[in-house]
Amino acid sequence: MKVTSIKGFSDILPEEVGVWQRVEAAAREIFEAYNFTEIRIPIVEKTELFSRSIGEATDIVEKEMYTFDDRDRTQITLRPEGTAGVVRAYVQSEMYKSEPVRKLYYLGPMFRRERPQKGRLRQFHQIGAEALGRGDPLIDAEILLLLQDFFAAVGLTEPALQLNSLGDTACRPQYREKLLAFLKAHEQELCGDCRRRIDRNPLRVLDCKEPGCIAATHDAPSILDSLCAPCQEHFAAVQRLLRDTGVNFRLNPRMVRGLDYYCRTTFEWTTTQLGSQSAVAAGGRYDGLVEQLGGPAIPGVGFALGIERLTMLVKMQEMPTSAGPDVYIVWVGTAARDWAFSLTHRLRQKNIAVELEGEARSLKSQMRRADKFKARAVLIVGDDELAKGRAVLRDMACKQQEEIDLNGIEAELTARKAS
Ligand code: HAM
Repeated sequence: MKVTSIKGFSDILPEEVGVWQRVEAAAREIFEAYNFTEIRIPIVEKTELFSRSIGEATDIVEKEMYTFDDRDRTQITLRPEGTAGVVRAYVQSEMYKSEPVRKLYYLGPMFRRERPQKGRLRQFHQIGAEALGRGDPLIDAEILLLLQDFFAAVGLTEPALQLNSLGDTACRPQYREKLLAFLKAHEQELCGDCRRRIDRNPLRVLDCKEPGCIAATHDAPSILDSLCAPCQEHFAAVQRLLRDTGVNFRLNPRMVRGLDYYCRTTFEWTTTQLGSQSAVAAGGRYDGLVEQLGGPAIPGVGFALGIERLTMLVKMQEMPTSAGPDVYIVWVGTAARDWAFSLTHRLRQKNIAVELEGEARSLKSQMRRADKFKARAVLIVGDDELAKGRAVLRDMACKQQEEIDLNGIEAELTARKAS
């Protein structure tokens, strides 16, 4: 019997890896241009880290975490997201002592036991960025500009930005009370889940997708009417900076996010092309989190994007598919094979991607394989040509071929790669 993978855990097969690599390379390039540096954090953490940061009354902590007892009975959890681990590392290594402002990015797998569907997996991958040590609105806008640049770099125009402010510890408790009073008055119209979460996490009711709950909360008080003056000022500045730099956005006061650490600016970049899993990237400000995890009062803001969702969009927009090798060497005869083998090695050392067969095949069959691999050029060499010091180089795009001197072959292929 075949052993198959676990539900919601997918392979990323060789055909798909190209688009993943391009997306990851574009992210690294853009993040580094914005002066973010990479951090690598563990995949498994103490459960307490996530319950304290994401919040006990969230779906993630209540029902989606993969939590186990380690052999010494420590409760450990496969990370459901990256922010908590990054902040833990920042506090644990006391990064703030030498320089509190740190702009960090990460990529890797995350785990949530959600119901799998298109764009929703149990092991999924995020690229995330966290800017610690800055409370100013410029950094909120900078992060959104970074995302806009990144979407453009991978050929996407569509994800649209929705923006909200969740206030802070000065104004949100009052909003919570106002909302709670409204929800209590409409309790009978809400779904069972929402009735259960009214007292524990009333803001989440605004995010419920049940039509009954959407209708019942249509006239619910808006958080944007309850912001205190400093939060209002901060949010107005973020919006002004975005307008000045040409970032389009829509205010969505119902967007509350599924993690409890947020305050002030929150955002989601959504698409209409992926059905119900519409959020491609999301994040916001979390000014209390460093302190909550045992560090000093240092603000933070960040986001994460889902690589599976992003690559689905990129594939729909048909970003040019990855090219095959620079050169495919067709050889006929054992002397030609051995010569080709050592040339391949020398070219690869020069960063030229080369492929060749290990077993003898007809010329026609090798040419077919060069096509299949999408090779940019084919170098054809037989024992006779080798003896004469010549080979044929065929450009697969324009289908033209020429005879070339084997002595100059490395220089010729290096020049072609550079052009
Ligand atoms: P999040 O909204 O939970 O935020 O996830 C961010 C993104 O990860 C989502 O927009 C989505 O693209 C992707 N994602 C989440 N769950 C799944 C899933 N089950 N399958 C596929 N993709 C998924 C966070 O994780 C925060 N840590 C973001 C953040 C960073 N906030 C501040 N800093």
